[in-house]
Amino acid sequence: MKNINPTKTISWKYLKNHLKEMKKITINDLFKIDKNRFKNFSINFENIILFDYSKNFINKKTLHYLINLAKETKCIDAIHSMFYGKKINITEKQAVLHTALRYNRNYDNYFLKNQEIYNNIDKILKKIENISNNIILEKWKGYTNKKIKNIVNIGIGGSHLGPLMITKSLQSYKNKLNLFFLSNIDSNKLINIINKIKPEESLFIIASKTFSTQETISNALSIKKWFIKNINTTFNKNIFSKHFIAVTNNINAAINFGIDEKNILPLLSEIGGRFSLWSSIGLVISLSIGFNNFKKLLQGANKMDHHFFSTPINTNIPIIMALISIWYNNFWNTETEAIIPYCDNMCFLPLYLQQLNMESNGKSIDRNGNKIKYQTSSIIWGDVGTNGQHSFFQMLHQGTKLIPCDFIATAISDNKNYKDHHTKLIANYIAQTKALAFGNLDTFSCKENLYQCCFGNKPSNSIFLKKITPYSLGLLISYYEHKIFIQGVILNIFSFDQWGVELGKKIANFLVKNIDRNIQNLTQYDCSSQGLINFYKSFN
Ligand code: F6P
Repeated sequence: MKNINPTKTISWKYLKNHLKEMKKITINDLFKIDKNRFKNFSINFENIILFDYSKNFINKKTLHYLINLAKETKCIDAIHSMFYGKKINITEKQAVLHTALRYNRNYDNYFLKNQEIYNNIDKILKKIENISNNIILEKWKGYTNKKIKNIVNIGIGGSHLGPLMITKSLQSYKNKLNLFFLSNIDSNKLINIINKIKPEESLFIIASKTFSTQETISNALSIKKWFIKNINTTFNKNIFSKHFIAVTNNINAAINFGIDEKNILPLLSEIGGRFSLWSSIGLVISLSIGFNNFKKLLQGANKMDHHFFSTPINTNIPIIMALISIWYNNFWNTETEAIIPYCDNMCFLPLYLQQLNMESNGKSIDRNGNKIKYQTSSIIWGDVGTNGQHSFFQMLHQGTKLIPCDFIATAISDNKNYKDHHTKLIANYIAQTKALAFGNLDTFSCKENLYQCCFGNKPSNSIFLKKITPYSLGLLISYYEHKIFIQGVILNIFSFDQWGVELGKKIANFLVKNIDRNIQNLTQYDCSSQGLINFYKSFN
């Protein structure tokens, strides 16, 4: 990968000039100028997902300059480096291999050449398949010989958000297993779960790449204690092996915890946490929707991988959408991007994309070691439509901030008996992007009442899935992974580490060990933290 400061490229200068021109043109104007604007600024991906990016501040010249920016910052080279397994995760000295997790061996002859990695991945997939089938077909029984009814995934960050988002989004594919996600260290979550399950009917998956994350290990230890207490026995390896599985890259730590080695699913170190739902971290997904549907999820992602790897920049969906985000974030100075799924089961997509985006691109030192003087990651937020229309849409329509939005919907509902509901949902989905783009100037005289004036000219992307299936969801998530990767390439940052999260963990670990000791000055000159500690200790 080349380390090019984007602001030093010719395209960046052209785009800065072009901005002045584009600020004089509204989205309304752009549609008037080009009657085929929808056709010219949308891509229909095999009639599975329609990407409509016509309601943006872009014209052909904008795209031309943006595409040149992608060329000048060597995006295609970066894509090839990732897929070929080059060590592009420089600060952690390793490759980035989440795409390898979903390679289709039959025709991926131009990706990573490393049979050993493929063998590892296939072994793990086999384990996922066996465990899933044995649990779902009720061959795997608990220690009282009862079937397993509850799956508790104990993990946080990438070991939580991906599986949570996917299993919720694919709820209509879910089998009868009850899923629980234990992530936060707040004991309310733990209590809420153990009040709903019986130990003898439950399988606990300790999902942690490092097997050292404070929240996950604390929760796992508390669950282990609760389990042993509630089955009225001392620790019994044989019983334990029927109810505890570990997904980790730290095999020894899992064994020391008491996990039976045959119940440990490894996780390649080259798989980043936020990119790991396709790996053994996805065990809970496979348990929830079945291994065949888990494979379809991988196949959908692989399809987008192929598009991303082999499509020229000007029709490469993740690259185009990454460039549009850069256009807003770095030239229009927008601060945030809203993710608005008009699909209630996709309610966790904004949360998932927060980690994917902001843990990848929330950086301020560039790949040359220089302090960055331009904007990097946007703030990602959002909620489902139509709920958002009754909370934050007022600001989208009449606020002072420019907030590009991704509106996502499915043309076919999961519930064929409620077609009227779906028609209303989609009518709102389309109406909102229209209202944001064009406002009510054509039908409303602002003189009458300025406060009811919607000036429009608010940009959005419409991402329209034919139907939410494992395959189409895999396509969509892979699209976002690659979009975020390209943004990082162009912004000249390292997108696959997350050193910024370590400091908070370190201080918290110190405080945990010392907060109950009478150390006068726990926090060295920081009287605020000391004051907070004193307040806490005054009640505990
Ligand atoms: O948030 C920091 C982080 O390291 C994430 O990148 C990761 O997904 C999460 O913590 C959990 O890490 P682990 O899977 O090692 O418990």
